[in-house]
Amino acid sequence: MRIDTFKIEEWMNQYCPSAVYDLTSTCIEPLSIRELMTLAGIQRPLEIFDTKLTYGDIHGSNRLKTAIKSLYTEQDLKNITVTHGAIGANQLVFESLLEKGDEVLSILPVYQQHYSIPKALGANVNVMFLREENKWQPNLKELENKLTYKTKIITLNNPNNPTGAVIPDETLERIAELASKHNIWILSDEVYRGLNLAGNPYSKSMADIYDKGISVGSMSKTYSLPGLRVGWICAREDLINEINKHREYNTISVSIIDDYYASIALENRAAIEKRNFQIMREGLKVLHDWLNGEVYVKAHLPQGGTTALLRYKKDVPSKTLCRKLQENTGVAILPGETLEMENTVRIGYCMNPQTLKFGLKEFSKFLRTF
Ligand SMILES: Cc1ncc(COP(=O)(O)O)c(C=O)c1O
Repeated sequence: MRIDTFKIEEWMNQYCPSAVYDLTSTCIEPLSIRELMTLAGIQRPLEIFDTKLTYGDIHGSNRLKTAIKSLYTEQDLKNITVTHGAIGANQLVFESLLEKGDEVLSILPVYQQHYSIPKALGANVNVMFLREENKWQPNLKELENKLTYKTKIITLNNPNNPTGAVIPDETLERIAELASKHNIWILSDEVYRGLNLAGNPYSKSMADIYDKGISVGSMSKTYSLPGLRVGWICAREDLINEINKHREYNTISVSIIDDYYASIALENRAAIEKRNFQIMREGLKVLHDWLNGEVYVKAHLPQGGTTALLRYKKDVPSKTLCRKLQENTGVAILPGETLEMENTVRIGYCMNPQTLKFGLKEFSKFLRTF
């Protein structure tokens, strides 16, 4: 199977290891196991030392699936399968549903999996771009016009990486109605769910509001544990069974150690969420103040998630800008070209706030001389 290069991952692999100020991350400052245990109020996780390193429960332990279930209103354990991160979840959904010649409508900008995997599987990919002048919200008329009788999946990401936009619950419901009218699946990548900055931190989940809604979640972003490599898919039972058929070929199980720590984290998520919202709000303030004083950049402040998409006022391709920025200052940011969004750059704002502050200051100095 031929597949396009994953542009973001390729860029980050090349540039992040040598960055002094790495502003590319989409995670909220990751937790150590010790910090996780402290937040969970566990002195010594003794049982993990006596756990035999078997394959464990093949589709995820009941303990973990019960903790995942608590994030939803309409799901049961049979509606959940645990995957190797959200990246494994998205891959499994596409390979389980798509045949050559099917159509996918992908809402961009989005994580490249959402259009490159369907393309690699022989599907035709229609794209709909979110627009800045619409505050990065989807235009539902345009969305309906892009559907054809062959459209099998609409894929979206809410809250959105890279724009930081959050689709209101009513709009999610209207998208579900449109999909229902045309009998289309919705793959809703919800890895940043739980990170809305205003109102309820948790948007409605597509699996809860739509029979053909498939929700993908993960420990990596909202819960600051990307090193666990734990994600999941929530969907109706017949689809989960079909996905598990595919999953046997490439996953067997997620590590029993990862399953254990993910369970503890979700069972104590209130403490993690409290810590994370503090980091987010601090980062948001740094970003807000910086944007107010920076004439060469404009952006909508994120409404949720961990990233912002910045439009810069320099006549230079984004890859050149980012390469030169890093060579001159050690600051790493992500070129919009890797997201099919030229003349923009993406930054994360939820790392250590000092790193963010210094990095943005250096970016400003660079923009004045470049
Ligand atoms: C929208 C989106 N989906 C999926 C992933 C993959 O996440 P995970 O670490 O859970 O595999 C990412 C990672 O950046 C992402 O931004």
